Amino acid sequence: MKQGGEHWQWNPDIPFYLGVLPRRGASGTNVKWFRAPNAFPGHTVNAYEDDSGNIVFDLPLTDKNVFFWWPDAQGNAPNPEQIAAQLVRFTFDPRSEDLDLPQHEIISGVDCEFPRVDDRFVGRKHSHAFFNVMDSTLGTDFPNTMPKMGGGYAPYNSLGHLNYQTMAIEKYFPGPTHFVQEPVFVARKGSTTAEGDGWVIALVNNAATMASELHIVDTRNFGKAQAIIDLPIRLRAGLHGNWVDSQDLKLST
Ligand SMILES: [Fe+2]
Repeated sequence: MKQGGEHWQWNPDIPFYLGVLPRRGASGTNVKWFRAPNAFPGHTVNAYEDDSGNIVFDLPLTDKNVFFWWPDAQGNAPNPEQIAAQLVRFTFDPRSEDLDLPQHEIISGVDCEFPRVDDRFVGRKHSHAFFNVMDSTLGTDFPNTMPKMGGGYAPYNSLGHLNYQTMAIEKYFPGPTHFVQEPVFVARKGSTTAEGDGWVIALVNNAATMASELHIVDTRNFGKAQAIIDLPIRLRAGLHGNWVDSQDLKLST
């Protein structure tokens, strides 16, 4: 910074660190820093402890600097069109004295980010994940939409649903001029609702109308929208929202 450089800088030589601390009663000194080769983590799917006491941790991961606008010390940054993540899983023993994480497993090569699970399964073994996907084969009109985004590269053009039991990924493609924001999962009403049974809701930016839309997809019929609500305004690209059922709001008062 004193030399006039960027406030933030990518360092391709620093390991990917994963801090683990006991769920209850921990203090800062209890954190144990595991490490893996340099990588760029964005957001996480979920993590849980399996029957043998291992931690299972799923997330999208890439070896490219996703924050390409903050280059490395030499000014190198990837072309945003070449940045793609894979969905990976780390399985490791938190009691291990070896702080080098075992090699991660690639769950899927799908280019994804902003993953979510059915919130009832946070911290528990999950079998479904929902996320944003960039699949350039789905029919996005890149030549006409990119200038409208100020010449930028659209990050995500569809929603994905991974069923871990079949390892199949269903995709919802909202349209050729549409780009998705982070989804949220809403469980279907009813006591017999299974994990991942419900609705996925996402804000969608339509570059043709330059307005935003709210798309609601039924997880039982993921290929098409159950409802599309046209908003009279254009919302900025955003992230991180939660659905709270009115029943739960009542319980908290
Ligand atoms: Fe975030």
